Amino acid sequence: MVTFHLVLKLGTLLAGACHVASASAFPGGAGHGKPADSLVAASWYAGWHADDVPLATVSWSKYTHMTYAFAETAPSVHELSLSDSDATFLQQFVSTAHTHGVKALVSVGGWTGGLYYSTDVGSAENRTAFVKTITQLATKYNLDGIDFDWEYPNSAGIGCNQVNADDVAHFLSFLQELRADPIGAKLFLTAATPVLPWSDASGNHATNLTGFGTVLDYVAIMNYDVWGPWAATAGPNAPLDDACVADPATQAVGSAVSAVNAWHATGIPYNKIVLGVAGYGHSFRVKPADALPQGANGPLASYPVFDAADQPLGDKWDDPNPGPDVCGNPQGAGGAFDYWGLIEGGFLYADGTPAAGISYSFDACSQTPYVYNATSQVYIAYDDAKSFAAKGAFIEKTGLRGFAMWQTGGDYKDTLMNSIRGAAGFA
Ligand SMILES: *[C@@H]1O[C@H](CO)[C@@H](O)[C@H](O)[C@H]1NC(C)=O
Ligand SMILES: *[C@@H]1O[C@H](CO)[C@@H](O)[C@H](O)[C@H]1NC(C)=O
Ligand SMILES: *[C@@H]1O[C@H](CO)[C@@H](O)[C@H](O)[C@H]1NC(C)=O
Repeated sequence: MVTFHLVLKLGTLLAGACHVASASAFPGGAGHGKPADSLVAASWYAGWHADDVPLATVSWSKYTHMTYAFAETAPSVHELSLSDSDATFLQQFVSTAHTHGVKALVSVGGWTGGLYYSTDVGSAENRTAFVKTITQLATKYNLDGIDFDWEYPNSAGIGCNQVNADDVAHFLSFLQELRADPIGAKLFLTAATPVLPWSDASGNHATNLTGFGTVLDYVAIMNYDVWGPWAATAGPNAPLDDACVADPATQAVGSAVSAVNAWHATGIPYNKIVLGVAGYGHSFRVKPADALPQGANGPLASYPVFDAADQPLGDKWDDPNPGPDVCGNPQGAGGAFDYWGLIEGGFLYADGTPAAGISYSFDACSQTPYVYNATSQVYIAYDDAKSFAAKGAFIEKTGLRGFAMWQTGGDYKDTLMNSIRGAAGFA
């Protein structure tokens, strides 16, 4: 199981992706007693979708932070690459965010952009050089912060990342050095993480990441792509909980609840954890007898078998023929549907209710919906206003710092955004 940012421009399906605008106070919750920090409402803005997501259409007033994706690591520690993400447009992005009182960050890495993270932080000399590379990027583009989206330390992610057993320790040393820099000291620093803590030098999930909680403003746990077309069966893209699944041995592989517990247990305070949420779902080709085991009018199965050789094409941001990935491996359509894509594709009406002829179920454990077209045999596990409300309530109850959505352009008329904001305690 992997968690990553799908780089849909590349059509990938990758086996296993400020001035604070809102003055609302941190809600506390669960008696954590950390009052001061204000809630975070963030999303990642994919630079390659700029034409489809004009800055003028972004609901800036609903955000506190917006993170531009991606600056990719490069063979030289002195360089980052914005070649897939329009460097000129980044300047407009930052100035527009600032006009609206929203903090502007750039995310470094991503699923395809982290090949050289390990060497960038791999020696004392490189860490010093990389601090300079990062602070120069921040200065050049007038950034408020940097998001480190390393997928993943001591794990090859897409498959051809440089890897070093000491990646986690090197990463922390680098962040500490960045914090000691006069420019780095003022930056808002975040990290996008998988659902399970990074692997330390032992090769096991780290048990003490306290140091990261000190140097980072927050970690954003990417609680999505938990299930997708690389998995053995269909399943929820972004489960809220997995302690309640019917078959824990095969189905309890990650969720917001278990991920927050795991990261908190490493020493990251709740108010430094932001829940990564998904404005999209994954599609699977599922036979009617498997999708609807109790017949056409019964509930949808939550973990049906699917035909991995017949991946449905997703919405118009999906690419049926993306060519090889950055590691040179062949790839096909990703099959992702953004929330607007479910409406455009005829699965949902504009108000989010299932269209006539479409089967719909809301899975009680994962607290996420599914839709199914028995004619096309397309089955989609996704998120909607109801599942975002459940996640927002969890954020509020647990005393998390807020949420970050992949990606800004995935929503439809702020349906998801309004739901999670309301439930998480934004005014
Ligand atoms: C330091 O960075 C350079 C690239 O600029 C790289 O070739 C070298 O392997 C790195 N050193 C370590 C120890 O990772
Ligand atoms: C955990 O890490 C912190 C910071 O790196 C260190 O100060 C602390 O002693 C460690 N705790 C344990 C139990 O190893
Ligand atoms: C279901 O799929 C069939 C076959 O692709 C298509 O003709 C039909 O319009 C779809 N139904 C809905 C409600 O979108």
